[in-house]
Amino acid sequence: MTRSLTILGLESSCDDTAAAIVRHTEHDRPAILSSVVTGQKDLHAAFGGVVPEIAARAHTEKLDFCIEQALHESSLTLQDLDAIAVTAGPGLIGGVLSGVMMAKGIAAAAELPLIGVNHLAGHALTPRLVEPVEFPYLMLLVSGGHCQFLVARSAEHFTRLGGTIDDAPGEAFDKTARILGLPQPGGPSVEQEAARGDPARFAFPRPLLDRPGCDLSFSGLKTSVLRARDAETARYGGLPRQIRADLCAAFQHAVSGVLAEKTRRALRLYLAEKPEDPIFAVAGGVAANKEIRTVLEIVCNEQGVRFIAPPQALCTDNAAMIAWAGIELFRLGRKDTLSLSARPRWPLDQTSPAMLGSGRKGAKA
Ligand code: KG4
Ligand code: ZN
Repeated sequence: MTRSLTILGLESSCDDTAAAIVRHTEHDRPAILSSVVTGQKDLHAAFGGVVPEIAARAHTEKLDFCIEQALHESSLTLQDLDAIAVTAGPGLIGGVLSGVMMAKGIAAAAELPLIGVNHLAGHALTPRLVEPVEFPYLMLLVSGGHCQFLVARSAEHFTRLGGTIDDAPGEAFDKTARILGLPQPGGPSVEQEAARGDPARFAFPRPLLDRPGCDLSFSGLKTSVLRARDAETARYGGLPRQIRADLCAAFQHAVSGVLAEKTRRALRLYLAEKPEDPIFAVAGGVAANKEIRTVLEIVCNEQGVRFIAPPQALCTDNAAMIAWAGIELFRLGRKDTLSLSARPRWPLDQTSPAMLGSGRKGAKA
């Protein structure tokens, strides 16, 4: 089948409402014809996290607009589409339901095939949207809601090598920023402070490095920052700016160190399979961090593995990745019926043990 496919994707599993249209003709590079993302950060700012009910209502209000805008920007109508793809989980159930109901309505009215996409598969297939990448490749998802190593074997088959057993790294950055009185989102503000700091001033723990495997843990690290802040505040009668910068630098250094070592281990498992063109890709908001990106790239260079980091707009939540995953699945013959369910939990790798906990932004998998 070499014909061209044009698919509308919808994403509403967390706090971004998004619609996008992607076109792909086989043997050609895919084209993102439009990608509309509207955030809800202001609506949740006062609550210190995403409020599921507020998120669901906002998705219901914004989805129409996003879809209209995506069609308008690509100069297409519903009749020009071959299918509609929608995030069917994992995520906050009210938001996922809003998207799934909207997609079902459009699919029924416009007589289009419907494809339910796993949000994590959307992230994990993004490297193939931006570059010619063959399976199998190793993927690290690092954001405010996700943290896992996956071997992508096909658009439907992923093996999880490990993941966080508590917080995601983005959550740890956000909580550290809160502890130190820095603005949200915490990642960029901690990174900015860290640039002026001395990472050697504090020796923070490297959780789970003493245990084999690729699982990660970040909640203890954040507690260490809290203890160090309290001790320094008691010592100086307030937190000096330089100490705050040093705390940020030491925290960021600990996160990068843990991610680098766990990536080394995940690469060892992946390379044991002798992939023809070894590739390591990283996605998620935390991948914007320069120190983290640099250490991961160094680890890949050490091992002779190609390093891919998609552009930031495609690393964070968006609908182009859902439309693209829809194209991949459609080519494999996957279609859902109007009884498609919204799933709060939906591990990509059904064979590995369930991950613990549920993040600030809903279920982790
Ligand atoms: O992927 P994303 O936009 O949303 C989800 O979590 O799904 O990731 C947002 C997370 C936030 O926790 C934010 O603090 C973190 O990514 N982040 C960063 C940086 N930029 C964003 N963390 C570390 N360094 C950064 N430069
Ligand atoms: Zn996501």
